[in-house]
Amino acid sequence: MKLFDVYPINPINIVKGVGSLVYDDKGTEYLDLYGGHAVISIGHTNPHYVKRLEDQLHRIGFYSNSVEIPLQAELATKLGHVSGKEDYQLFLCNSGAEANENALKLASFHNGKKKIIAFRKSFHGRTSLAVAATDNPKIVAPVNETDNIIFLPWNDEAALEQAFSVNEISSVIIEGIQGVGGINVASESFLQKIRSLCDTHNAVFIADSVQCGYGRTGKFFSHDFAGVNADIYTMAKGMGNGFPIGGIIISPKIQPSYGMLGTTFGGNHLACAAGLAVLEVIEQENLVQNAGEVGNYLISELKKFEQVKEVRGRGLMIGIDLPEELAHARKELLNKHHIFTGEAKPNVIRLLPALNLTKAHADRFLEAFSTVLNHSTVIHS
Ligand SMILES: Cc1ncc(COP(=O)(O)O)c(C=O)c1O
Repeated sequence: MKLFDVYPINPINIVKGVGSLVYDDKGTEYLDLYGGHAVISIGHTNPHYVKRLEDQLHRIGFYSNSVEIPLQAELATKLGHVSGKEDYQLFLCNSGAEANENALKLASFHNGKKKIIAFRKSFHGRTSLAVAATDNPKIVAPVNETDNIIFLPWNDEAALEQAFSVNEISSVIIEGIQGVGGINVASESFLQKIRSLCDTHNAVFIADSVQCGYGRTGKFFSHDFAGVNADIYTMAKGMGNGFPIGGIIISPKIQPSYGMLGTTFGGNHLACAAGLAVLEVIEQENLVQNAGEVGNYLISELKKFEQVKEVRGRGLMIGIDLPEELAHARKELLNKHHIFTGEAKPNVIRLLPALNLTKAHADRFLEAFSTVLNHSTVIHS
């Protein structure tokens, strides 16, 4: 059997990782500013994380949601404390798409309505409703197509008001900072407007925090910058530092009932141990603060490069928008300087490193980036 070939991959075999460094099978060291797509939140092979998972594996790895799993309540308490949303309720699943799928479905159960507002360039995942709310026709199969989704322009308050006035809106789903869409920050007034329109029209405000959440921006949820609460926050990626775990936290105004949501794997013992280890490290090592500080340092330094079109983002979620003639920069960073970064079309370099990235590692990147840009000036002048 061969693999179903859907990923355009780099021919690099990563066999080891420590903190923000990874190593290939030939022993080459790479600086990881991609974090395996914003997943590695506390660094590779963090000792506390490894020990907690190892200990749990020796006790029990899995049992289903038909029995008590006290680790789930422990995780809910810890997440409430670290995120500041203490009165919310936690439902655990396995991925970001699943988190959004559950959030959209729950909103509709709650208010009995069908229409969903999503935004241009959004990415919410690949399951049926999540992908329908994703603004990329290429990944929407005919069976996923629905007229229940209304796509609106980004940060456009007038269009938002208009959509509410003519439609029965069940929910609004929005990334605090669009990731796949190219690191676009939702304005604070836009998020405030969503809050007030959802209140007026009995709609559910869903904050997709799968990529921009979990401390990455210097606040636990990037939507928190607007000073308003969403009704549901969805999360995954950084939650398990590589162990598959996702979840939604739900405002107390939405009531559960037996059978409303469910999953086989979600909230298993091993996943909860991973989730707890991540939050313990985030809390003990003040990683939300570190992400804010090191990230904002990077952003301000990156803004000094004249060749860069625009630097967008917050904390350690950074988009470096490059002109066409610098489209090769990302490949060069990887192949010559051994630095992993992410990308967004057409020419945005995305930085999504671990939240404990050091200033020294940030400087190592800035130096390499400077070399790449200066070298390019010579070639193109
Ligand atoms: C904002 C956002 N939502 C949802 C998802 C889907 O998450 P997953 O790939 O875990 O299903 C992603 C993945 O990139 C994402 O960036």
